[in-house]
Amino acid sequence: MRVLWCVWICAALVAALPFPDTLDFLQQHAWGIDGVRHESILQLPHTALHVSAFSKWWMHMWGVRYMDITYTPESVCGPHASSVFPAQMHHQSELMAAFLQLCAKQLRKHLEKLTSFYTRHYRSASGKASALWISKVLEEMLAPIPYASVRTFDHPWLQPSILVHFQGTNASLTETRGVTLLGAHIDSANMLPFLRAPGADDDGSGTVTLLETIRVLLAAQWRPESDVEFHFYAAEEGGLLGSQAVAQSYARRHVLVRAMLQQDMTAYVAPGTSEHIGLVEDYVSAPLTNYLEQLAKVYLTIPAVRTQAGYAASDHASWNKTGYPSAFAIESAFASVNLGRAHTTKDIYSAPGFSFAHMLQFARLAAAFAAELGGWARSPDQ
Ligand SMILES: *[C@@H]1O[C@H](CO)[C@@H](O)[C@H](O)[C@H]1NC(C)=O
Ligand SMILES: *[C@@H]1O[C@H](CO)[C@@H](O)[C@H](O)[C@H]1NC(C)=O
Repeated sequence: MRVLWCVWICAALVAALPFPDTLDFLQQHAWGIDGVRHESILQLPHTALHVSAFSKWWMHMWGVRYMDITYTPESVCGPHASSVFPAQMHHQSELMAAFLQLCAKQLRKHLEKLTSFYTRHYRSASGKASALWISKVLEEMLAPIPYASVRTFDHPWLQPSILVHFQGTNASLTETRGVTLLGAHIDSANMLPFLRAPGADDDGSGTVTLLETIRVLLAAQWRPESDVEFHFYAAEEGGLLGSQAVAQSYARRHVLVRAMLQQDMTAYVAPGTSEHIGLVEDYVSAPLTNYLEQLAKVYLTIPAVRTQAGYAASDHASWNKTGYPSAFAIESAFASVNLGRAHTTKDIYSAPGFSFAHMLQFARLAAAFAAELGGWARSPDQ
């Protein structure tokens, strides 16, 4: 163990060498010292473990999936939502008009900035700065919208989650059916600490997909009938830390959630495969996933394929654990996902197979999810 620690620390120092002030660099870009000192409680499918920071990193490195429950050791369940989803689509003409505004250049502009942070690690100062940048983009976009608000959800680590709320026109409808949620995670990680973590696909892609979804819905004058929220979670890579904190806070306040859709990695079309999206079918709500498949049939121009992602694969799992119906859409069937580049310096948007056009399919899916489940209020002059 001690030998491994030495290797780790030496690697860190070597990585930091080109920089004039190593300590300052580490504080700015790498995990805070407290992150190295702390023990964590990790939830695995059948057991919970108390582990050191080193063991946690080692497990992450070898691809073991867990939920870090250090900050949410006692999980409570939220109010029970209906598992019946609409049998028909109601907003095809509005959505098709919104889709005309979708723009790959917008995705690229936001992703260029997001991947320019050295890392978006949740314990790093640059991870915090990246969250505040997302919050600023949202605030500018939503400034003219009186029924939208942006909130920073603080955590015991540096990076906050950012939550956007759209108030529906019909409060009693929100009370009976619940709020509709869409999520992506804003943090990134390199499996080797202290190295650059651009996280273009994981999950810069899901993050900018949601930004673009909000932009085109607003350009098409969307306002939901029941409340809809877009969540930008901190610390997914630390073991779904941010989304668990948010889901637990909703459960404790007895917030009714109609449905939650997670989008984590939306950009990659593996060379040599035909373009499709992946609908994850484990640790999700089966009725909601069936509904998502219907949305995909109507609103996408590529097929949807069922796939499995395993335990604690992304933030939908935090909502599932809290008893809320959640679903997970990913760039392809799991076998063709960009896992070779995720958590490395190679997760960049110029990588072969990285496709902004593919991400636009996920923006369609997200817009359809928000508008079909949250509704589309008629404007007063209609
Ligand atoms: C709000 O929704 C409820 C439930 O669907 C409906 O009965 C009511 O008429 C709606 N109110 C308005 C103002 O649209
Ligand atoms: C959570 O996931 C489990 C396992 O896949 C599934 O059986 C269950 O229905 C899900 N819970 C909810 C509320 O959707």
